[in-house]
Amino acid sequence: MPRLTEFFFLTSNDHKIEEARAAVSQYNIEISKFEEFKKLEIQHVDLEEIANTALAQIIQKTDKPVFVEDSGLFIHHLNGFPGPYSSYVFETLGVEGVLKLMEEAKTRKAEFRSSVAFGMNGKWLATFSSATEGTIQPKSRGTNGFGFDPIFIPMWTSKTFAEMELKEKTVYSHRAKAISKLALWYLNESKKNLDLKPKETETEAI
Ligand code: IMP
Repeated sequence: MPRLTEFFFLTSNDHKIEEARAAVSQYNIEISKFEEFKKLEIQHVDLEEIANTALAQIIQKTDKPVFVEDSGLFIHHLNGFPGPYSSYVFETLGVEGVLKLMEEAKTRKAEFRSSVAFGMNGKWLATFSSATEGTIQPKSRGTNGFGFDPIFIPMWTSKTFAEMELKEKTVYSHRAKAISKLALWYLNESKKNLDLKPKETETEAI
């Protein structure tokens, strides 16, 4: 039986950790929360740039296989707002504030986007992005998850993210898709590339 690969996820958001674990459980990859450093988040319009910049700071300090994720909700009627500012907008306007901005909306289309930057042994190795299209509901529904989950319905369903159990959200989640891309890439690359073995940790690539 191959030993588990362990990835360290730099985040303070436990929901993100749970989603990441659910996304990679099938690949024999374990996700540990990495709390040794505080992520310094830059303001930028591009999620990949934000994730890459955060990763650049972390890989100077650890050889562990580590990743950071940046995400946001892009609403068509608001020309992509709040996008990379989602976290700040969630804290200030909140879900109800965003619903107010949507009162006159002719389109309720929106998408969640996620970018994941991964590095190890002091090097950036890869960045992956994914998106999930859906619509913004006129009223909050459901109590699971976090952030804008109660108002977002992904395409092909009628439930908001907040009405889904973790396993179901993982099927649609922008984050789960980006982290799955990372897992598949890593498993594929580590078969042929010895550089992908972490120096410091006891874990071993499959
Ligand atoms: P960050 O990726 O930590 O910068 O946070 C982005 C913000 O976007 C979060 O604070 C949430 O408000 C929102 N967000 C990102 N992904 C999700 C999700 O899966 N569900 C609900 N809200 C999300």
